[in-house]
Amino acid sequence: MNPDQTRNTHERSCDAAIVGGGLIGLSIAFELRRRGADVVVIEAGIPGRGATHVAGGMLAPVGELDFGEPDLLELNLASAGLYPDFVAAVESASGMPVDYRKVGGLHVALDRDEAGGLKRVLDLQLRLGLDSRWLGPGASRELEPGLAPGLNGSVLAAGDGLVDPRALTSALLEALEKAGATVRTGIAITAIQTESGRASGVELADGSSIAAKTVIAAVGAESGRAPWLAETDRPPVRPVKGQVAELRGDSAEPACGRILASERVYIAPRSDGRMIVGATVEELGFDTTVTAGGIHELLREAYRLLPDVAEMEFIGATAGLRPGTPDNLPVIGPASMPGLLIATGHYRNGILLAPVTARAVADMVESGAGPDDSADGPVAAATPARFRGGESRPDSDNGSDGLSERAEKR
Ligand code: GLY
Repeated sequence: MNPDQTRNTHERSCDAAIVGGGLIGLSIAFELRRRGADVVVIEAGIPGRGATHVAGGMLAPVGELDFGEPDLLELNLASAGLYPDFVAAVESASGMPVDYRKVGGLHVALDRDEAGGLKRVLDLQLRLGLDSRWLGPGASRELEPGLAPGLNGSVLAAGDGLVDPRALTSALLEALEKAGATVRTGIAITAIQTESGRASGVELADGSSIAAKTVIAAVGAESGRAPWLAETDRPPVRPVKGQVAELRGDSAEPACGRILASERVYIAPRSDGRMIVGATVEELGFDTTVTAGGIHELLREAYRLLPDVAEMEFIGATAGLRPGTPDNLPVIGPASMPGLLIATGHYRNGILLAPVTARAVADMVESGAGPDDSADGPVAAATPARFRGGESRPDSDNGSDGLSERAEKR
């Protein structure tokens, strides 16, 4: 049989088939549906139960800034700027709140050594014109009285914010259902169907298929090993494990109001009193085991930062896999196969980058972007083409290649 021929009777046809029901896939589906496209999301497991479920929900272009990543900063800032409208659209379409708050982040130095490191990052932030400033111990504790008394100082990133990724997932699913989009769950895709060399749909594990004018691969850490992607289109994405602990404090008298972070841990407060303590950064392949050592370290460091942690209820702990790339930039844009778009590799910023990714992918679907096209603006740097072909393709097995100072430190 000619491999270009469609083998199954299509049971459904649509404008865009989005493979992957994490926050990125759902946001793309939402944006496309808003623009009138008929979309189908296909999720092998439960939507939002991968990296999205574990994420702290930090919207922190300033707090997450690292050396040597100007393109990522530009992308992060662009997406942070889109967040208020994105959230308003999702909340209005779903009728569900997503706990989006621009509370700011406080990055704390617990001793003199840590203060030195933090001040180097502050210098970089200020050189780049970002909104951040140094606070001494007194001023830090005035803002966050629960902080450990012995701290050396902190950097306030006042414009950073938070969202609850699980609430955002539920709201997106509700909005998609209300808008008549199809979300198929618990079924994997086995192949991308083609016609005349162009992606024309997906084949599912039960033998059925869905015809689509565009196929979008948004499967997070899985994209680096997805057998249904041709080798040339499989991005060099590797899983970077993150464990988090979930605590519950008093929502009427929260132990902190902002994102709190030290060199080794961050605490992301939710409006309902929960505190997400994250996160480990582990290069262990596709391992999602929650370890006693990992959680012990997170809780110990959280306690050093915010002693009230000791009194909180321990709700549980979980682990997820960030999709890391050799240059820490995501992979967003046309694959080498016409009709196929890739949206993955969001590493530490998947929640933050959802709106800018959704908008860029929807633009590319509308414009019919092909293998030689890339997105406009800051998303251009994320083009999959940077990993295509010969020597320029970074080594996907080598986790240390291109890693930032932050990833090596944590
Ligand atoms: N954005 C925080 C993390 O990836 O742990």
